[in-house]
Amino acid sequence: LRDGADAFSPPPVSAFASSIAPFAGGPAGLLAELTHRCPLQCPYCSNPLELERANTELSADEWGETFHQAAAIGALQLHLSGGEPTIRRDLEEILAHAVDAGLYTNLVTSAVLLTRERLQRLAEIGLDHVQVSVQDVIPDSADRISAFEGGVAKKRDVARWTREFGMGLTINAPMHRQNIAHLPQIIDFAVEVDAQRIEIAHIQYYAWAQVNRAALIPTRETFMATVEIVEAAKKRLAGVLNFDFVIHDHYATRPKACTGGWGRSIMAVTPSGKALPCHAAQTLPGLVFDNVRDRQLGDIWRNGQAFNAFRGVDWMKEPCRSCERRDIDHGGCRCQAFAVTGDARAVDPACHLSPEHARFAAFAEVESHAPAPDFVYRRYGPAAQGARAKEPV
Ligand code: SF4
Ligand code: FES
Repeated sequence: LRDGADAFSPPPVSAFASSIAPFAGGPAGLLAELTHRCPLQCPYCSNPLELERANTELSADEWGETFHQAAAIGALQLHLSGGEPTIRRDLEEILAHAVDAGLYTNLVTSAVLLTRERLQRLAEIGLDHVQVSVQDVIPDSADRISAFEGGVAKKRDVARWTREFGMGLTINAPMHRQNIAHLPQIIDFAVEVDAQRIEIAHIQYYAWAQVNRAALIPTRETFMATVEIVEAAKKRLAGVLNFDFVIHDHYATRPKACTGGWGRSIMAVTPSGKALPCHAAQTLPGLVFDNVRDRQLGDIWRNGQAFNAFRGVDWMKEPCRSCERRDIDHGGCRCQAFAVTGDARAVDPACHLSPEHARFAAFAEVESHAPAPDFVYRRYGPAAQGARAKEPV
């Protein structure tokens, strides 16, 4: 904590958390998508094209039951996400359940709806960490990307209050063609608001980002510049700010171990209770998603069809099947493999051993050098398309 930070004492370890029996090989974390509702319209939104309706959302008590079951199968971290989780009027009640389950709680928020009073209330209940997403830190550009006015000032306030109330703070900056030139200012913003960590993540192209791909893919040269900027900033800010940098897949030679490996470390639950091995898993065909309303989380995790579809190595084709890195990157991202090749079992095209790799890199080169088309914004509602953007800033 900063000197003089007005922190709250952490709540005592809950009786529930200290009574949990061991469960081998459970998830380390739970991503709870409390709602798909959101005041922003980011053109790279990773939520599904068909958003779930408010009247299907799990109640606070149903979330509470889910959290306790998650803790009982070994989950330690809980990400309260969305959409925008602070839209839920019962967020305090939901959080109290998470604290009772003994989970480390992270609120993943755009911050634009939070007041100082509400954030303080959440801190008092036991919120551990806040992750504030930034679309950009240049106000005109941020407003245009998110289709929301005045977000930057609001995020700055919320970030500062987060530290004032003694909670951990991460700044999350999805990176793409239309904010990439402002990366140095985004890093400065994270330092200014006293964040401990910054995630600079080149976006992936599935769900809504695929709709806007040509408006979002950066050139190889600008991507390479971000690598240099981050490397220099890591040295300059050692001990001040931790960096988590996700490279751009089209310009990679090796894929990342997406979601830490399918069914290995993360479980996501949608607003209406569908349990997913990856938050984008609904883009894949042929998977059956059990609902936490109908089946125990431990049973879903161990025996659910979707969780076993790409677990381990038996599902792999060549070149992954006989590759020495198969236990390191687990064949990369299933959602990206399907989005690009139409085959969810194919090697991730980010891998240089993929037969699609050259084409995958080439269309990024072509699209990124053409003039950027307007954004197609999404509005809350089934696959709705919103207004068109102004010219890029
Ligand atoms: Fe990873 Fe498959 Fe590429 Fe090997 S071939 S590096 S396992 S994606
Ligand atoms: Fe689904 Fe990578 S986003 S496996």
